[in-house]
Amino acid sequence: MEYPFEIQMTKNSRLEGLDLSSLPFGRTFSDHMFVADYKDGKWQDCKIVPYGPISFNPGLMALHYGQSIFEGMKANVSKTTGEPVLFRADKHFQRINKSAERLAMPQVPEEVFMKGLETLVSIDKGWIPNYEGSALYLRPFLFATDEFLGVRPSDTYRFMILACPVGPYYPKPVRILVAQKYVRAFPGGVGFAKAAGNYAASLKPAKIAKSEGYDQILWLDGQEFKYLQECGTMNIFAVIGDTVVTPPTGDTILDGVTRDSSIQLLKAMGKKVEERPISINELLQAQADGSLKEMFGTGTAAVVSHVETWAYQGTDYPLPAIEDRVVGPVLKKTLEDYKNNAIEDTMGWIKPVKELVNVK
Ligand SMILES: Cc1ncc(COP(=O)(O)O)c(C=O)c1O
Repeated sequence: MEYPFEIQMTKNSRLEGLDLSSLPFGRTFSDHMFVADYKDGKWQDCKIVPYGPISFNPGLMALHYGQSIFEGMKANVSKTTGEPVLFRADKHFQRINKSAERLAMPQVPEEVFMKGLETLVSIDKGWIPNYEGSALYLRPFLFATDEFLGVRPSDTYRFMILACPVGPYYPKPVRILVAQKYVRAFPGGVGFAKAAGNYAASLKPAKIAKSEGYDQILWLDGQEFKYLQECGTMNIFAVIGDTVVTPPTGDTILDGVTRDSSIQLLKAMGKKVEERPISINELLQAQADGSLKEMFGTGTAAVVSHVETWAYQGTDYPLPAIEDRVVGPVLKKTLEDYKNNAIEDTMGWIKPVKELVNVK
């Protein structure tokens, strides 16, 4: 074992008496968190400690220059074995390191990432809610910790994992507004990375969209304002005729784990799926001739979020009622069944979290 782990258990669990069935997304944190530090060119001090404040000096580079990335993933209780399971942990591990590479940060070793996750989930397994649409949301994140005011990559970093019991993210179908002024990502930029700054940049446009009665922005490319990119913090899919289409990933679109899982599951169900550029004109045409049957977003938090209405240049375009849709609702149910391990893991996406021994 290259990275020894220390475990400090809380003496004051907050779990007792907590109603896991009525928690707002991302506000309640489990009893413990994982911490590891990168210094002198290597990862060290891996530990599980009680969830609580961390202390840094105000010169912390992450605060000034935004060298900060994260992941979002889920653990559920397996409906088959009753043990905790992680969904596609390997994909999230690969993606955090793709983000790290783009932001000139060190790679997180697989042992640190996986053992950190598994140890935390195993210790806090009582925090995994077990009702429809719920999960233990896991937030691995990495940030620069040098105390220095100067633009260069930090020499030191902290990697942490938090866990939040959560219910459904967007409980209702969403109304989305096509971006006309703001841009999420440019070729050559950091759109494909889960960089904290991407989310900061999206807040003002999202706030404006909200004030106009929409839930999310449908981002277009920043060069021609013509091609669909993503929808808020989700990848976007449309069902046009009998074909499910989604924009191809690249350096402007996050390679969503739910997106990839959806494509594979839809293909396995016999659906026609195309990864190709979708222009706003194609969408307008499909809306006009009635072939635009569905739109939905995919993401770890949202799973599948049905689009009720999309809006472009001052016009609202309603989509067919959810009960008349044949792709999004089935996909959502299949993904949830998959994550809960209620159906056979034919894709090899489920990682059981083993019981820890000798934890006091
Ligand atoms: C910008 C963005 N796009 C897409 C997604 C969906 O990715 P995933 O399915 O891996 O959660 C997310 C969120 O996780 C996101 O933040």
